[in-house]
Amino acid sequence: SPGSKVLLHFVYQSGTKTSVMATEGESLLDVVINKNLQIDGFGACEGTLACSTCHLLFDDSVYERLEPMSDEEMDMLDLAYGLTKTSRLGCQVIVASWMNGMTVRVPQGVKDQRVTQEAKNKQ
Ligand code: FES
Repeated sequence: SPGSKVLLHFVYQSGTKTSVMATEGESLLDVVINKNLQIDGFGACEGTLACSTCHLLFDDSVYERLEPMSDEEMDMLDLAYGLTKTSRLGCQVIVASWMNGMTVRVPQGVKDQRVTQEAKNKQ
């Protein structure tokens, strides 16, 4: 039910694991911000599908159950550094009760598309 608590495990780039109680209906970007998880550069565009810094990796069994991707997410995800077949953008994944106990991994690098774009514009 909306507002219920969901236990999530995050694995940082360093391999360190942290567990948080998220709230159903929040995005994973909200969780990172609200729980003050220290992930370098994460969520630079604040969920407006313009940066791909919220790139996260999921277990196969979880990935298969996630809501389908929008075309906009697919396009932005394509540009993410270290893309895998179970990658999603965290700002587009909404916490649901079935996710209780799932593990989310932070990829080994991030690339902020806005910075790439700025660099291109300066050339
Ligand atoms: Fe920028 Fe998700 S926070 S695309």
